[in-house]
Amino acid sequence: MSETAVEALSKAEAAAELARLAAEIAHHDRAYHERDAPEITDAAYDALRRRNAAIEARFPALVRPDSPSRQVGAAAAAGFAKRRHGVPMLSLDNVFSVGEFTEFLARVRRFLGLSATAPLALVGEPKIDGLSISLTYREGEFVAGATRGDGLEGEEVTANLRTLAAIPKRLRGPAPASIEIRGEVFMTKADFLALNAAQEAAGERQFANPRNAAAGSLRQLDPAITASRPLSFFAYAMGEASERVASRHLDYLARLSAWGFAVDPHSRRLADEADATAFQGAMAAARSALAHDIDGVVYKIDDLALQERLGFVGRAPRWAVAWKFPAERAETVLEDIRIQVGRTGALTPVAVLAPVNVGGVLVRHASLHNEDEIGRLDARIGDHVILQRAGDVIPQIVGVVLEKRPERTERWRFPDHCPACGSQALRPPGEVVRRCTAGLTCPAQAVERLRHFVSRVAFDIEGLGEKTIGEFFESGLLRGPADIFRLPAHEGEIAAREGWGEVSARKLSAAIAKRRRIPLDRFIYALGIRRIGEANAKLLARHYQSFTHWRDEMLAARAPGSEARIALDSILGIGPAVAEELAEFFTEERNLATLAALAAELVIEDAPPVASDSPLAGKSIVFTGALEQMTRPEAKARAAELGARVSESVSKKTDFVVVGADAGSKAKRAAELGARVLSETEWLALAGGGDIL
Ligand code: IVH
Repeated sequence: MSETAVEALSKAEAAAELARLAAEIAHHDRAYHERDAPEITDAAYDALRRRNAAIEARFPALVRPDSPSRQVGAAAAAGFAKRRHGVPMLSLDNVFSVGEFTEFLARVRRFLGLSATAPLALVGEPKIDGLSISLTYREGEFVAGATRGDGLEGEEVTANLRTLAAIPKRLRGPAPASIEIRGEVFMTKADFLALNAAQEAAGERQFANPRNAAAGSLRQLDPAITASRPLSFFAYAMGEASERVASRHLDYLARLSAWGFAVDPHSRRLADEADATAFQGAMAAARSALAHDIDGVVYKIDDLALQERLGFVGRAPRWAVAWKFPAERAETVLEDIRIQVGRTGALTPVAVLAPVNVGGVLVRHASLHNEDEIGRLDARIGDHVILQRAGDVIPQIVGVVLEKRPERTERWRFPDHCPACGSQALRPPGEVVRRCTAGLTCPAQAVERLRHFVSRVAFDIEGLGEKTIGEFFESGLLRGPADIFRLPAHEGEIAAREGWGEVSARKLSAAIAKRRRIPLDRFIYALGIRRIGEANAKLLARHYQSFTHWRDEMLAARAPGSEARIALDSILGIGPAVAEELAEFFTEERNLATLAALAAELVIEDAPPVASDSPLAGKSIVFTGALEQMTRPEAKARAAELGARVSESVSKKTDFVVVGADAGSKAKRAAELGARVLSETEWLALAGGGDIL
């Protein structure tokens, strides 16, 4: 069948073609997913979806509500919908000693105007290391659930939460018309080990700890995957509620239990400080025998009326505190020091240890940070070392037991050549990190870049785990990121590999097809440019909005002092060091070739305009001079909330300049460049939001 090229389609033809593609793709989706009986090859299927995406990119107004790009691609790419919490989800202040805990209670008493010896009952609850979620029940029915997110809004993961047996779909017995119930989703240590073993056998990525495993399992776009993971849940707090359900926290826990929730059986009412201190000791002793990780105990004032009076400071309640356990330590033997080469060529020393149990987790590797740290510790192979593990950070070596040092050990010398490719490894003056100088010709760097490219925050391709990447690279199936999208063309070859087969090869092709559409911020992050993490990638996407605009501006920004470089430097949160890295990345021919190859394979989605109904959306704004009605940081934050890009300096691209008192040269330059100059009063009118001003 010959198809009209996308560029040659008229608008009417395009509309008809999109309707045809929607029906055809839906048909093949059902054949594949519901009947397990695909009628066409994945390559043919990919081609249909790509054609659909290409037509939509040319005629955005024609995108259908039932478009295939919205069905799978969009949901996958955009991730989860956001959900605002009725009452913010807070974090807790930490204390580490009896002294600090006593000080917490003294603060509470002072705040409430109680005498230093007035009774103050508490509830102690083990602090589980998982992720907190909020569940909304209406008329006793579970209607929605979300992760904590930034505390104000989280990701809506209702469908996934429904698959947890520990979350009641309906509250037992009488319940308020509306209530948010909060608690922790977690994974037991045994479930975590079993899951990792299964992941390893399947060649999938392994999780670093139970907490990551729980979070990764809950944040799956396919609820069937969440359903297959062993997740547990304890309820322990309340959000918004239409009526009062208890007057003491311990009674609230009893209600939770009556409604059908699991409540941590160790939770206990404690009459006073002495009781609490004893409980802390008892939990610390019980810790390693518990089925799940805990990293301390949360103490809450039992009386809910007092809780209400105490309220919050910043992001934490005044009525609760987390008393953390000290970091766990153990002694073991340093068997070897290996050098890992990261995606940016950084050489990182990793300690290989005689396996040792630290707080219920078997540790075989630990971080040695960098060259200087090894020098400071003078850690030598064969040494007895002290290992420390705190929370979910990588275990660290904190000391050497010199009395046990064997004879004839030697000071360990950091290599000056890359162990992966043999190229020179240099450490620029003033930096702590030594780097391989070979760039992508170094296989270790190339593999790490690919791993980063498919990592969860980036392309997140199901079935393309770290191990697979390494194997595909070795056999030449993968060299650069664009090759990933050519893998479906090698499906037969992949199916024939050991441990694969037709079904998994086809699944991989489908997973890759799903990711041909990607939001700009994830795309930028995936490139693995130094200093461009998630946050900076988001800033860039938001500022430049489209891939082509970003690329063109970055090319222009290679020249120091150029208009584009100044604009880049002055994006709030970016700054010169990051701008320098970007310029460097865009100077390298090889990177430009990779970008072009990727652009040919992908549909890179524009960043959504923020608050699109605001007059500031997508506009560039600069503040200069002293403002009187609000501080400069407040004004910038407000502008950013309204979708504006806040810059430090005026350029041709500046739309608005807000001029406060004593504004200097920027006001003049703004007028010259034709930006709209606003007085503070005009800015306030534009920023609106009477509630804020
Ligand atoms: S109460 C305002 N209770 O700890 C109340 N949190 O560091 C805040 N956590 O985000 C939460 N066990 O993920 C509370 N029994 C418990 C908890 C607990 C674990 C976690 C939770 C929270 C974090 C704050």
